Amino acid sequence: MKLKDIVPWGRSFEEYRDMFLLTGADLQKTILGCGDGPASFNAGLTKSGGKVVSADPVYRFTTDEIRSRVRDVYPEIMSEVSKNPDEYVWDSIRDVRHLGQVRTEAMELFFDDYEQGKKAGRYIDASLPELPFEDKIFHLALCSHYLFLYSEHVSLEQHILSMKELCRVANEVRVYPLVTLDGKRSEYINPVVSELRNDGLDVSFQKVRYRFQKGADEMVVAK
Ligand SMILES: C[S@@+](CC[C@H](N)C(=O)[O-])C[C@H]1O[C@@H](n2cnc3c(N)ncnc32)[C@H](O)[C@@H]1O
Repeated sequence: MKLKDIVPWGRSFEEYRDMFLLTGADLQKTILGCGDGPASFNAGLTKSGGKVVSADPVYRFTTDEIRSRVRDVYPEIMSEVSKNPDEYVWDSIRDVRHLGQVRTEAMELFFDDYEQGKKAGRYIDASLPELPFEDKIFHLALCSHYLFLYSEHVSLEQHILSMKELCRVANEVRVYPLVTLDGKRSEYINPVVSELRNDGLDVSFQKVRYRFQKGADEMVVAK
């Protein structure tokens, strides 16, 4: 995995809470954040006493390397959003400038926490579909803005293997969003859900509080 192939982009602790409908009881659980990249969920939850490990291939790189990659992709991402404002709900995030501010603040919290978190084993260099964790070591695994969103880049087979792997390491798995980059429901959802149900897992869909990308209003839950 080369750094230039990764689009690091980080959401905040509050965004994770709303994307995954995390309750006070959920936040007491041992949580895996898979594909967390430079999001500040881990930093925020750790600060409030929670137990969380983030796994992402970007953690093989140093703070400076990730910062420099964020600097490279930032203008591209902001320009894409500016060109397509109708694809987003401008509510809690008011406009493109505010989006930049919210993302930058979240990523700064991540950068401030990264070195100490890495030493504490909270940021692990790992890639789906194979995670270096024992069976059911986490109560809850969260995956934000990687599976389903990148259906054009990650194959159906990789999705199935990845979901099975997340279900192997955690009692419950929540994934959001279920739409692709162009805002359409991913075609992989039905086949992935069938596979998981065939394995005996209980799979359901839940509407979430979070609203930003249009059409992205639910998560899938497997347990
Ligand atoms: C768009 S970012 C989302 C970051 C964060 N989850 C959020 O919502 O703010 C996608 C993340 O997926 C990570 N990623 C890419 N391939 C992966 C893989 N095979 N397994 C786990 N994470 C991966 C990238 O490194 C990147 O950090």
